[in-house]
Amino acid sequence: MNILVTGGAGFIGSHTIVELQKAGYQSIILDNFTNSEKSVLQGLETIIGSKIVCYEGNCGDAAILNKIFSEQKIDGVIHFAASKAVGESVENPLKYYHNNVSATVTLLELMLVNKVSNLVFSSSCTVYGEPDALPVTENTPVKPANSPYGNTKQICEEIIRDTVKANQIKAISLRYFNPIGAHESAIIGELPKGTPANLVPFVTQVGIGQRAELQVFGDDYDTVDGTCVRDYIHVVDLAAAHVAAVDLLVKNSDLKYYDTFNIGTGRGNTVLEVIRTFEEISGNALNYRIMPRREGDVTAVYADVTKAEKELGWSAKKSLKESLTDAWRWQKKICS
Ligand code: WQD
Repeated sequence: MNILVTGGAGFIGSHTIVELQKAGYQSIILDNFTNSEKSVLQGLETIIGSKIVCYEGNCGDAAILNKIFSEQKIDGVIHFAASKAVGESVENPLKYYHNNVSATVTLLELMLVNKVSNLVFSSSCTVYGEPDALPVTENTPVKPANSPYGNTKQICEEIIRDTVKANQIKAISLRYFNPIGAHESAIIGELPKGTPANLVPFVTQVGIGQRAELQVFGDDYDTVDGTCVRDYIHVVDLAAAHVAAVDLLVKNSDLKYYDTFNIGTGRGNTVLEVIRTFEEISGNALNYRIMPRREGDVTAVYADVTKAEKELGWSAKKSLKESLTDAWRWQKKICS
């Protein structure tokens, strides 16, 4: 079966293509390469040992989507393509509503016209905002988003849910927690453009000496050591969850199926625990400085993953230490 992977040259998309191929699916990529490198395609072909079909363009471009749907037999879509920088979304909300929301509407319209009836959507734990209780389940109330980025994820989930109700299409929204790490081959991994907004690529860049010090955004939170708690999931585990979701959809005879799943490890770790674990695997002390809190950060969020375990037959396998080990190997590779 053929899966169209929008944003397939990106960090999570590329790792998902590897897992799709292992499960016997063929992938077709649509990517505009604004937040990914074309070199990822060669890396993917090295890992999977076969050519990858890739279309360059925007997910909201009806012409290219029609071209893909007419040239390829597409059985399902995994929709990663989106802008995802929380801070940028606050400064430039319309870019996010255009790239993330209107593009998803266009994709859905063309899936219906072309009778492509399986969609996996890349959502985020940011829909939970600052949860009142932990761990968060899929029934934890969705809170008003802290950023236009988070709002686009909430809006897209609602658009997809309503589209499923009115049409013959099945969909799953996967609410990611914090993806980290890299493929064990170190042929593909995270390629943050410019200064990393996320913790782990910043940690590995400090570890390799590319940056002088890590700024820890606040140590006065109500947590075990004062720093924020997150659910850090290995990107390969996250990729495997997408295959489990596609498997569930293609087998599902209910043509109006829609559901959401938390995709995390079910464990929370603080920023300082990430730092200590990284120091353990790298063998060096990490240079960091405690700074004031970052606007928009929630104190703690981590997943209850019972539903994914029961209904997707999926659970995360890798520990924080394994994830940071793979992230570190990748950092050393791209700086070698
Ligand atoms: C994690 C913790 C920071 C950088 C974001 C998006 C979310 C998802 C994952 C897409 C926080 C602290 C970070 C640094 C630090 N992306 N930190 N110094 O904010 O939990 O989630 O990425 O879906 O939507 O919001 O991830 O890695 O930015 O931060 O102290 O230089 O690390 O304060 O506590 P976050 P993050």
